[in-house]
Amino acid sequence: MSDTTDPRKLPSADPHTGNRRVDPITGYDTTGHDWGGITELNTAFPKIVIWALALTFLYSLVAWILLPAWPLGRDYTRGILGLDQGEQAIEGLRELTDDRLPWLSRFSDGDLRALQSDAVLIRQAMPAAERLFEDNCSACHGATGRGGPGFPVLADGYWLWGDDPGGIAETIRFGINSDHADARIAEMPSFDWMARADRLALADYVARLPGAGPVHSSLPGAALFTENCAACHGDGGRGDLEAGAPSLTDDAVIYGQDRSTVMETLSRGRRGVMPAWIDRLSAAEINLLAIYVYRLGQPVGEGAQ
Ligand code: HEC
Ligand code: HEC
Repeated sequence: MSDTTDPRKLPSADPHTGNRRVDPITGYDTTGHDWGGITELNTAFPKIVIWALALTFLYSLVAWILLPAWPLGRDYTRGILGLDQGEQAIEGLRELTDDRLPWLSRFSDGDLRALQSDAVLIRQAMPAAERLFEDNCSACHGATGRGGPGFPVLADGYWLWGDDPGGIAETIRFGINSDHADARIAEMPSFDWMARADRLALADYVARLPGAGPVHSSLPGAALFTENCAACHGDGGRGDLEAGAPSLTDDAVIYGQDRSTVMETLSRGRRGVMPAWIDRLSAAEINLLAIYVYRLGQPVGEGAQ
């Protein structure tokens, strides 16, 4: 191979004289620059780097088409392969937890009563259930289901919907007033059409209901209540109609049962939203939570160990 065909040896010239200068040791041309006796070899840009750049550029074009790539405001181009690493990661995590908790799969079958009476299984599962509740539910329902204004207490054994783990699982699965088609629906209509004096009489009546016992029927406002409210809240506000309308006779309040809060409930109406979890938690996790939440409402020693 002669020197002139070696691509690395490009002709170069002394910028001052125009003559080629060749490095005597390597045989390469030099750029002609000389820094106190140190000269620079005139070598070509390595082809392999150019190829690597070209290939990565081509890959990026293909990747734009196949994979999620460009942001479009709130969305992004999804690519024709339909791969979503976020979903894959969640799926992977779910498999990991299912693996790590070999007992969890037992909760995916629906016989919650049988599961609940398996004391060994329950003892094993409750710490994980507690964490699941903290991660997903406590933001609204408070740690250990203590509730808060607008969010019902889950630890009092009083249920708006379904008072067994199966019914509770259904509430968790589909939610209440959620955007799921099978959601439970519970709406307290607004009574702002009603004369203010009547609303005040009702608010007084409702505020006095907790602990009133059978006397309630002789309280002022009782007739108005029977006429307008009992269809949903039951006679004397005892609730328990499996329609999501709370009892008004006990201490389990969602929004508050003092006169001014009841006035607000009457004028605005209420429509609390409990989200649906069916797409966010596995069937086993939902059943596990249903049993956990049910047990929160059980007196210690009974069912809870
Ligand atoms: C964004 C707030 C929010 C989150 C998060 C939430 N809930 Fe709820 N939940 C509510 C509201 C509000 C209600 C009451 C709806 C109503 O007013 O009818 C409710 C009601 C319920 C009920 C019905 C209570 C009854 O008396 O029948 C259960 C059971 C329940 N939630 C369990 C859970 C569990 C378990 C989780 C976690 C997976 C959870 N919730 C997460 C807001 C929430
Ligand atoms: C169509 C059924 C329906 C009727 C009629 C109705 N309610 Fe309600 N009420 C509900 C539902 C459902 C809730 C729970 C709403 C929620 O959780 O967001 C509720 C909630 C309430 C609450 C809040 C309870 C709490 O725990 O904070 C009060 C107070 C109340 N209703 C009083 C009344 C009074 C008084 C009347 C009659 C003037 C009345 N309701 C008529 C369905 C009804």
